[in-house]
Amino acid sequence: MTDGAGIQSAASESERYPPPAAFVADAHIKSQEEYERQHQRSIKDPEGFWGEIAADFHFFRKWDRVLEWNRPFAKWFVGGTTNASYNCLDLQIERGRGDSTAILWEGEPCDAAGNPKEIKRLSYRQLLQEVCVFANTLKKLGVEKGDRVTIYLPMVPELAIAMLACARIGAPHSVIFGGFSAQAIVDRLEDARSRVIITADGGFRRGGIVPLKANVDEACGMTDLVKTVVVLRRCENDVPMVAGRDVWWHDQVKGASDTCEPEQLDSEHMLFLLYTSGSTGKPKGILHTTAGYMIHTAYTSKLIFDLKPDDTYWCTADIGWITGHSYIVYGPLQNGVTTLMYEGAPNHPDWDRFWAICDRHAVTKFYTAPTAIRAFMRQGAAYPEKHDLSKLKLLGTVGEPINPAAWKWYHEIIGGRRCPIVDTWWQTETGGILISPLPGITDTKPGSATRPFFGIDAAVVDKDGSEMGPNENGLLVIRRPWPGMLRGIYGDEKRFHKEYWSEIEGVYFTGDGARCDQDGYFWLTGRVDDVIKVSGHRLGTAEVESALVSHPKVAEAAVVGFPDEITGEAIAAFVTLRGGETPDPGIIDVLKKHVAKQLSAIARPKDIRFSDALPKTRSGKIMRRLLRELATKGRVEGDTSTLEDFSTIANLRGNTEE
Ligand code: WT7
Repeated sequence: MTDGAGIQSAASESERYPPPAAFVADAHIKSQEEYERQHQRSIKDPEGFWGEIAADFHFFRKWDRVLEWNRPFAKWFVGGTTNASYNCLDLQIERGRGDSTAILWEGEPCDAAGNPKEIKRLSYRQLLQEVCVFANTLKKLGVEKGDRVTIYLPMVPELAIAMLACARIGAPHSVIFGGFSAQAIVDRLEDARSRVIITADGGFRRGGIVPLKANVDEACGMTDLVKTVVVLRRCENDVPMVAGRDVWWHDQVKGASDTCEPEQLDSEHMLFLLYTSGSTGKPKGILHTTAGYMIHTAYTSKLIFDLKPDDTYWCTADIGWITGHSYIVYGPLQNGVTTLMYEGAPNHPDWDRFWAICDRHAVTKFYTAPTAIRAFMRQGAAYPEKHDLSKLKLLGTVGEPINPAAWKWYHEIIGGRRCPIVDTWWQTETGGILISPLPGITDTKPGSATRPFFGIDAAVVDKDGSEMGPNENGLLVIRRPWPGMLRGIYGDEKRFHKEYWSEIEGVYFTGDGARCDQDGYFWLTGRVDDVIKVSGHRLGTAEVESALVSHPKVAEAAVVGFPDEITGEAIAAFVTLRGGETPDPGIIDVLKKHVAKQLSAIARPKDIRFSDALPKTRSGKIMRRLLRELATKGRVEGDTSTLEDFSTIANLRGNTEE
């Protein structure tokens, strides 16, 4: 952990954007006083506050207690039983949403005129039927309550269907992002002890086919854990089927009933695992449970995106990340809106695909990542200007800090200056949004996620836990439990304690640096641990390092992040070759490809440098700070007094690439 404390920021954050009057008129929360009152109450009396919110949800058995807090273990809605799929589907139908569109899906492939070849609409009633059919199919395949089901699918409606089917029968899902490769699948399968994996022949991406089934086959060659592979036919590419193990989705669902009683699950029943990167090479299975997660995602969706029944809401994330879990599937569906899913790339067939989709489907709320906004900005305003974006009412961002220039472009070019922007701060671990504007009341400041949501006690502190003054940089912590918080790291209680609850005494440590200004607005300054955010995707330096050293020519590797104009951060790798070999011309490309193959294309280093040795302290610790300086500025200015061998620095400086 680096120490971000004590530096006074030269913040030029006087610019404020009040909520547009037309938006305020219709907003769920429109008075500042109401926010202050509710927020104070939610902190002073969290049980009273969340108990009232929870009354809007369906419980088969009401909870006995709202919160049981034995730090760091929280239980929410203790003693209650509920079901997330019931709240997403059956309850919406009971409330009269049965015939409205739940999922509006657009596939990637287009015809010569640039029109999508496939659009699907599933009403809440149809979605419930599909979910029940697949839930019954899973049962028939032997899946029982508590079994972890791995899902490795493209962005197709069946992905949401599979998740909700798992939720219906109480089988926790573990979704793996389709961009991960075989080794990453094996690590996650084994950690979750998952025997069933749901995949597809392939997925369409940027005009090509992602070989999902082939990756699963390769993964299954490395572990004998998997007994059943359910294969969805999507691309009709040829895939070999292993007898006794592989079955087709469309064969298995034949004859399955379209009704399935939802399991009455304990509030704290595991809803899903989602693997994310931390400071070691091993990804951690972030564990989320049922009732608290459900209520947190539903309530934040409602107030932050100001959801109304007639909204067509589009979050452009992949469901393989937490953003997609919480704000494509669980949050929006519990609000009865139409949630849009798009299968493919933002630049297929051209850079206006997102704007064409917004136009075609009259999208009203749009949620994306800063990295995407910067990429669009670079392509120019002509692309969005080709389309009618006037139905948009609200814009959102997530995943990394947004630079004010990108914020303003988004506000002006996409939002036509009439849409509030919600810059939402949260994490895989937090389950849902913790810091964000409320669009009807918050004056936004470009680059700030503004203020904590109801029930969230956020603070900026130093390493000892003392609160920093206004505009002083420090570490972001959360001092009280919240409903959507992680309940643990699957199978690793020690690591749960160590990574989140021991860095700073008595509070949840986020891993982020931040400062809080004189108005109580939070400004996030990036990770202070060994996590890198490339295009908003989270990667651990150690994961990339172990991918590098798995190449036979590599003796040692160290990886750091450095600023990049589009992707926010990019990866620089410092590599020592075996036997002091001198790098041959092709090696850089070979190693980049190797990392993409081992881990994921998103983990490809942008910059690779070679040296006979890496800079280390006398105790043998790699000095990442020096490497970060080298990658960022091309030289080292800081203190090198603990460096074991100074010549390694001189060495590294010499051979930069790209
Ligand atoms: C990390 C969590 C939250 C869903 C997507 C990412 C960074 C996230 C913001 C924001 C500045 C942000 C933080 C955080 N982050 N949102 N609005 N402003 N930074 O989830 O992969 O778990 O990553 O993303 O560094 O710790 P994740």
